[in-house]
Amino acid sequence: MQSIQWFPGHMHRTRRQLAELLPKADAVIEVLDARLPQASRNPLLHQLRGPKPCVVVLNKSDLADPEVTQAWVTHWKAHDLEVLPLVATDAKVSRRVLQAARALVPPRNFRLRPLVLLIAGIPNVGKSTLLNSLAGRKVSLAADKAAITRAPKRIHLDEETTLYDTPGVLWPKLEDQHDALLLAASGAIRETALDLWTVAVGAAALLHQYYPERLRARYGIAGDGPPEEFLWNVGKRRGCLRAGGVVDAEKAAQVLLGDLRSGKLGRISLQKPPA
Ligand code: G4P
Repeated sequence: MQSIQWFPGHMHRTRRQLAELLPKADAVIEVLDARLPQASRNPLLHQLRGPKPCVVVLNKSDLADPEVTQAWVTHWKAHDLEVLPLVATDAKVSRRVLQAARALVPPRNFRLRPLVLLIAGIPNVGKSTLLNSLAGRKVSLAADKAAITRAPKRIHLDEETTLYDTPGVLWPKLEDQHDALLLAASGAIRETALDLWTVAVGAAALLHQYYPERLRARYGIAGDGPPEEFLWNVGKRRGCLRAGGVVDAEKAAQVLLGDLRSGKLGRISLQKPPA
């Protein structure tokens, strides 16, 4: 398979910002994609966070396979991590993040000294959406454009809670091409930086492994052959054709990736915890 690469964004600036902000925070809210929890963990945050209390949010859990999400919760709880499956678009449920974070911090009068939280996560994982839900107003633009970099923001959520929002960036190099595939398939990597056909072929192979019946149900194609052939047939069926009736590979890739990202293939998890 062709290697998946992207333009990483401002890593040095992010490292500096995180290193500056972490000491000011009582706890970290690490937002992961419930469909690919391990692949969406930023190793930089992991390195810099140290023993600072952390709530691991498995966001977009409405798009993930509930059984697999539960398996991740069990897995990380066994490693003493506070894990919370979440749907950030649901404002009521989102407040649970604040309760979970507060429970990790030694009690004090938060009106006198507000709880300070830092929120971090890769692009497109739902940080802005979560912030908007927590604040009850629009505090930053929620847009489906990965790798938009922003300066950190300080937001007063209420009289007891302040939150630092850090820009979502991807790390510069992914040795693990499988993780790269999961990130690309989920939409975390800006599409202009990607070869969509390569990503869609990889996604088709994974979907055949985990959820073959969903592919059959949606596209009416058995897909027992190579994933390239499957994708080609999806393109044909969906009328993704160029002049002369040749399948437009990029459009066919967009059909599969669009269906996967929007939940049209049902609730899907692309990564399971280690056995
Ligand atoms: P970011 O700040 O981390 O980059 O992510 P952002 O909040 O912009 O969210 C990226 C996309 O993910 C948005 O969709 C947002 O609505 C969607 N999203 C966030 N949380 C959830 C969730 O828990 N479940 C689901 N299903 N989607 C979620 P969008 O298409 O860009 O915008 P729109 O649909 O809100 O118009």
